[in-house]
Amino acid sequence: MAFYPPEPFRIKVIEPIRLIDREGRQKAIQKAGYNVFALRSEDIFIDLLTDSGTGAMSQAQWAAIMEGDESYAGARSYYLLKEAIDDIFGFGYFVPTHQGRAAEHILASLLVQPGQSVPSNMHFDTTDANIRARQGRPVNLVIDEAYQPSNPHPFKGNLDLNKLRRFIEETGVKNIPLGMITVTNNAGGGQPVSMENLRGAAAIYREYGIPFFIDACRYAENAYFIQQREQGYRHKSTLEIAREMFSLADGATMSAKKDALVNIGGFLAMNDAELYQRAANELILREGFPTYGGLAGRDLAAMAVGLREGLDEDYLAYRLGQTAYLSQGLQAHNIPLILPPGGHAVYIDAGALFPHIPPAEFPGQALVVELYLEGGIRAVEVGSVMFAHPDPDTGKMVYARLELVRLALPRRMYTQSHLDYVINVLGRIASRKDHIQGYRFTYAPELLRHFTARFEPLAREAALPAERR
Ligand code: F0G
Repeated sequence: MAFYPPEPFRIKVIEPIRLIDREGRQKAIQKAGYNVFALRSEDIFIDLLTDSGTGAMSQAQWAAIMEGDESYAGARSYYLLKEAIDDIFGFGYFVPTHQGRAAEHILASLLVQPGQSVPSNMHFDTTDANIRARQGRPVNLVIDEAYQPSNPHPFKGNLDLNKLRRFIEETGVKNIPLGMITVTNNAGGGQPVSMENLRGAAAIYREYGIPFFIDACRYAENAYFIQQREQGYRHKSTLEIAREMFSLADGATMSAKKDALVNIGGFLAMNDAELYQRAANELILREGFPTYGGLAGRDLAAMAVGLREGLDEDYLAYRLGQTAYLSQGLQAHNIPLILPPGGHAVYIDAGALFPHIPPAEFPGQALVVELYLEGGIRAVEVGSVMFAHPDPDTGKMVYARLELVRLALPRRMYTQSHLDYVINVLGRIASRKDHIQGYRFTYAPELLRHFTARFEPLAREAALPAERR
C-alpha cells in the first residue's frame, strides 16, 4: 500500500463539511447549469476546485494576524514581509499586491507594448490574459514531453531551450520585452522545472538582454522536486534551492495564495531600480501605498510567516506525498493520469478515460459533473471548455491538446481518508464509464467562458444504468 508521511501538524480548529444526498446534488448541479463554478460551496463535500487561497493557516500565522500593523505607511508587518522576501527571493525591490494577477497586470502594463511577445514554458491563464490585454502575445515553449501524459520525465515543466533560442532569433530581441518561466507549470500538470533548465533559460535571456521573470506561485513545491529529483541537490535545503532559483532571475510575480499559505496576497519583485519606481507609481494608482499594496497589514504579516512555512521540508514531504498517494490510488483503478503527479494537483486524462465522448462534447466536463453527482466532489475541467476556440482564419473549432480534469489539493486541509474517499468515488465512476455521456453548451460567453457557461447533458437518462435513473 502506498504510504506518505503523516501530517506534520495536528488539527486545532475544524470547519464542518457535509455530503448532501444524491437528489440534492442532482438538483444543485441542474440549477447550476451543470457548471460547478455556479454551485454553492455548502453543497460541496470535498472541494478540489483549486489550491489557491483555500489552504489552512497555522497558529503562527493566526498569531501574526493579531499582531498585524495597520499603519498606512511604514507598517511593522511590511518590514516583516520584506525580511522574508529578501531572505528567500533576494531581489532588490518588491511591491505587495492583493494577488498574483495584480502583479502580472503591473508588470505587463509597464513592459509589454502592442505586438510584442512574451515567451515562457507555459503561461497560466491570468498571465496569458494580462499580456493579451496589452495587445501582446503570450508564447508557450514547454518541452514536448509536457504533452505526453504518461511520459515519466522528472521535469516536464522545463522550457525547451532550443525552441527559445529559435523563437528569439526569429522574433527579434526588440519584440520581446521580457521572458518568463512558471514554477511549477500549473497549466501543464503542476510539473516542476529543473535548476539546470532555469540556469539554461537565464543564460539565454541574459545573452540577448531580455529581462527574466519567474512566476513563483509554487516555488517551494518546485524547490522540493529539485531536491528530490535533480542530481547535486539532495543535500541542499529547500531554502538554499529557492535562493539559487531566484538568483538566476531579474524578478518574480507571486500569488501568495499558493506556497505562501495565505488566503489572499501576492507581490511583484525585481532588481531594476527604475522599474521598481514605475511599479510603485502604478501600485499607488490602483492597489495602494507601496508598504501595503491593496492588503491589510495583517495579511502582510501572515504572508511573511507563510513564505517560510511553505519551505518546511516535513510539510513538503507530506504535501507532495499526498498527490503521489492520490495518483497511485487512481492508477489502481486504471484511471489515466498525467504522470508523474504534479505538486499541487493530480490531473486526470478525461479524453482517455471517456474515449467515446468527442472533444466537442467535453469529456472533462462530463467527468467534473459525475464527480459531483457521485460524491459531492468539486474539480475543474482543464480542456476544451476552457481552451477550445475558433481558428481566426478558417473559423474551424480548435480543441484543447488534452482533455484534463484537475483535482487540486488545498494546503494542510484534507486528510488521507478524504483522499481515500475521492479514490473510491472515481473508482465507481470508472466502473461505469461507458455509460457516461457528454454535454453541450446552452450558454457560453466569448472569453474565459468556463466560469459562467451553462450546459445540458446529452441523453443522460438513457445512458445511465437502470438502477441509477
Ligand atoms: N500564476 C499561476 C501559475 C497560477 O496558478 C495562478 C493562479 C496565478 C498566476 C494567478 O494568481 O489567482 O493570485 O491572481 N492560479 C489559480 C488556480 C487560480 O486555480 O490554479 P492569483
